[in-house]
Amino acid sequence: MICEVIILAAGQGTRMRSKLPKVLHCVAGKPMLGHVIDRVRELDASAIHVVIGHGAEQVKQAFVDTRINWAIQEQQLGTGHAVAQAMPAVNNDSIVLVAYGDVPLVTTETLSRLVAAANQSTLSLLTVDLNDPSGYGRIVRKELGDIAAIVEQKDANEEQKKITEVNTGILAVPASRLNQWLPKLSAENTQREYYLTDIIAMAVSDGLHVLAQQPGSAMEVEGANNRQQIAGLERFYQQQQANRLMADGASLADPKRIDVRGQLTTGEDVFIDINCVFIGDVSIANNVSIGPNCVIENSTIGSGTVIKANSILEEVRLGSHCDIGPFARLRPGTVLAAKAKIGNFVETKKANIGEGSKISHLSYIGDSNIGKDVNIGAGTITCNYDGANKSITNIGDGAFIGSNTALVAPVNIGKNATVGAGSTISSDVGDKQLTVARGKQKNIDNWKRPTKKS
Ligand code: UD1
Ligand code: CA
Repeated sequence: MICEVIILAAGQGTRMRSKLPKVLHCVAGKPMLGHVIDRVRELDASAIHVVIGHGAEQVKQAFVDTRINWAIQEQQLGTGHAVAQAMPAVNNDSIVLVAYGDVPLVTTETLSRLVAAANQSTLSLLTVDLNDPSGYGRIVRKELGDIAAIVEQKDANEEQKKITEVNTGILAVPASRLNQWLPKLSAENTQREYYLTDIIAMAVSDGLHVLAQQPGSAMEVEGANNRQQIAGLERFYQQQQANRLMADGASLADPKRIDVRGQLTTGEDVFIDINCVFIGDVSIANNVSIGPNCVIENSTIGSGTVIKANSILEEVRLGSHCDIGPFARLRPGTVLAAKAKIGNFVETKKANIGEGSKISHLSYIGDSNIGKDVNIGAGTITCNYDGANKSITNIGDGAFIGSNTALVAPVNIGKNATVGAGSTISSDVGDKQLTVARGKQKNIDNWKRPTKKS
């Protein structure tokens, strides 16, 4: 059976008090609509249609790379009207799954159950039982329990308002039926809107079976209308991530103080201290320990590596048993072989650093290739930029760079070479050479300091 998805995302989201369309507000660093699109992609739907209106151009711009059929709803005349805007592009033989762009945490599992239950004679509806159902459409059932209709809160009578089973808005229905029912919707209700929910009573009267299913958890179907609700979804999402990491073998110093904004995978016996943020694709091997307040983005960390407090890593690859931080800044293109060490207040960028090499304190190493067992002294700077172009520094295996050295690139330091502290090196140094490039020290006996004029 072919499934197509219609995601409703035309609403304004007035209560966000924002220039940004509501569905572009983020949960875990990703627009809410992005979460929904990612989940429905996993369903193998033949097409994804997104109905947009408020901030349509901005929404489209945010998803330029994705294969989406955009449908424009000029005026927000209701959910039924919104679905109707997408229908011309939907195949009449498909099953249509309707989802909301502002309900980001629904799972693929729930959606695929819903789709699997729908067929030419069955409409499947996602409902949930809430302690406080106010605001939602109520599921009205007949005496024997079959669903009869959905009544919106604003149109409900006192008896109906007591019903705690509510409509999540998510449903799966045959396109051929939608095409029959949508033109018949009327806006004669309290809100003067074309309600999608009115198709339920039509389905019942046309003899379709209306089947209700429930999500794995109520948070899955929670929408966000204001920033407080977004924050609530964010915390729920982060708690789920924390639970998953712990199930995979990571210890978290505090599961409430970790933020995962992307895909984080961890091996066994990983330890993550408080307030760490993981962004994009991050992969952490076994036995890695991460200190407090680290930010790690799109990086791979080898087994047994220790990252100490307050280190910032972006697009880096670290081998096994490396030692990083505290207060290290590893920028894009930093690649460390096993057992390399980057200490405090060291910044690296586009740097290949060989096995066992150490840059322990206060250095900037950029556009560099550093061999094995190299020792870079405190305060070493690769002067990689002449104001116009970047140049490369190469340092051979076993070299020793004295403290406070400026390496003016392009420059090559040979294997096992030694650079005296305080040198400014602007030409190549051969293998095993010692080089010292600094003012010669002069000592003057019995030096008289100047005295104050009277
Ligand atoms: C809707 C349901 C209600 C359900 C609730 C769950 C209807 C009539 N009511 O009510 O039964 O309990 O969701 O949250 O369907 N949208 C458009 N175009 C429109 C109107 C809405 O794209 O013209 C989009 C919104 O951006 C939003 C979604 O549809 O993503 C739901 O709209 P909303 O106004 O929040 O519906 P509710 O009144 O909450
Ligand atoms: Ca809503």
